[in-house]
Amino acid sequence: MKKIIAFTGSNNPVSINEKLIKYILKEFPKSGIEFVDFKKYELPIYSQEIEKKGIPKHAKELFQLFTSAEGFILASPEHNGLPSAFLKNTIDWLSRIDQRFFGDKPILLLSTSPGATGGSTHLEILADLLQRWGGLLIGRFSLGSFQQNYDEKAKGLKNSKDKQLLKKLVIDLLSKQSVDRNENCDEVKDGSTSFRKDEIETKIDVHHTEFSTIHEKANERANEQLHGVLHREVGTETFMNEIVNRHKGKGFL
Ligand SMILES: Cc1cc2nc3c(=O)[nH]c(=O)nc-3n(C[C@H](O)[C@H](O)[C@H](O)COP(=O)(O)O)c2cc1C
Repeated sequence: MKKIIAFTGSNNPVSINEKLIKYILKEFPKSGIEFVDFKKYELPIYSQEIEKKGIPKHAKELFQLFTSAEGFILASPEHNGLPSAFLKNTIDWLSRIDQRFFGDKPILLLSTSPGATGGSTHLEILADLLQRWGGLLIGRFSLGSFQQNYDEKAKGLKNSKDKQLLKKLVIDLLSKQSVDRNENCDEVKDGSTSFRKDEIETKIDVHHTEFSTIHEKANERANEQLHGVLHREVGTETFMNEIVNRHKGKGFL
């Protein structure tokens, strides 16, 4: 069973986008779709000053959740033709951990609003930006005129065309395979050069909780260069010897 994280970009306690997500959960029980309430992951408005003190715990926790998922459903409210500031702020924090925080995994974009367009204007913007965050767009659906098209008593969509379209998109998402990635690499080589100075350890800590960095001969290397990554279960000496043997004559050390 796939783990799909469903979330909204709303901090409204009576969010209509959350109602749309809850409808999907009801229609697809035992499918591995799990609602994650972003309101419980309170984050300060992004600032470089705060980041210098460390990425907030809630951003790290959310990122870990994202890492464990195989796909996503986002129901996003539209504010003045754009995504909400609440969602944008969460995206900003996640992107400081990893620009591609969706991890090359499939995502279904939804929106709803009381207006006729259902928030489709900003969904187009989100769809365009998804790739830079490592999201693979499966499809999008905007439910317009929420109050007319959603049955509060039955907690479901009224219109059979909407029902069918949404069902098809969720099935598409559930059947989509994510891109294969080699996450458990023993070494970070070329990748380290794309990190900012002093950021490497944070990246490793957040991405690979079971790894830690090795800092032998730090005085002989430039700041950006990472010597190796140690799997905590493997002894340092063994690991170092493996690296030395593998790179003998290649000028790695
Ligand atoms: C500041 C603000 C701007 C809004 N702008 C739009 C908009 O551009 N388009 C739209 O369809 N609805 C707009 N709305 C209405 C929202 O769609 C509505 O508040 C909806 O309930 C938001 O979804 P949520 O309940 O999941 O937070 C706006 C609401 C607010 C508070």
